[in-house]
Amino acid sequence: MNKIIEALNWRYATKKFDQNKKINKEDLESILEIMRLSPSSYGLQPWKFVLVNNTDMRSKILEIAYGQPQITDASQVIVFTNKKNIDGELVDTYMNFVAKEKGIDVGVLDGFKGMINGSFAGKTNEELRGWASCQTYLAVGNLLTSCAIAGIDACPMEGYDHAKLDSLLGLPEQNLESKVIVTIGYRAMDDSSATSKKIRFPKEDVLIEIN
Ligand SMILES: Cc1cc2nc3c(=O)[nH]c(=O)nc-3n(C[C@H](O)[C@H](O)[C@H](O)COP(=O)(O)O)c2cc1C
Repeated sequence: MNKIIEALNWRYATKKFDQNKKINKEDLESILEIMRLSPSSYGLQPWKFVLVNNTDMRSKILEIAYGQPQITDASQVIVFTNKKNIDGELVDTYMNFVAKEKGIDVGVLDGFKGMINGSFAGKTNEELRGWASCQTYLAVGNLLTSCAIAGIDACPMEGYDHAKLDSLLGLPEQNLESKVIVTIGYRAMDDSSATSKKIRFPKEDVLIEIN
């Protein structure tokens, strides 16, 4: 556990990446697998992760992200998106997949499916979008912690024009909306943010203990 605490103190939202240091192929594959393995409510995985390799595209995103240099300096840019319409179709797709993976008849899952659909039926579209968003952020957290443990730097970024990025990436046509960009790579040795004091409320302010 101490090693994890150490890694979480080591990590910070990297402002200046070393443009010349790239994440190797094997680590990148592991990072993508870590994201894929993230947990989600009911296991529905309402997300898609967009890995933006194209340099022209990254220059366009730089503008949309108000010139934050991480977008073009980091080794990789990953856009976390999730489905906009959370509906019965998504649930059906998932049920069919579960049945196939487990080698069972999809009908066996009718109770589970009914429970999810019942829960969704009581929610507004906005609430369902909020639900999907929460799942997506779990994958972001998973990535950030895993990167820290692996000694890879990252910066989560909500600071961009969401409508413009979504349009640039063609997300609406795919029933998707972006939530956060995460840039990953290695810190530049002169990134002054690396030595900033970590600001977190003390334990007694964030923990409610019920005995
Ligand atoms: C969801 C989210 C969005 C963020 N957006 C930005 C951003 O657009 N640009 C940026 O430089 N930092 C961004 N940050 C970094 C936070 O400011 C930073 O995580 C916070 O101040 C805590 O500092 P630390 O991560 O360095 O410990 C974001 C962090 C999170 C979790």
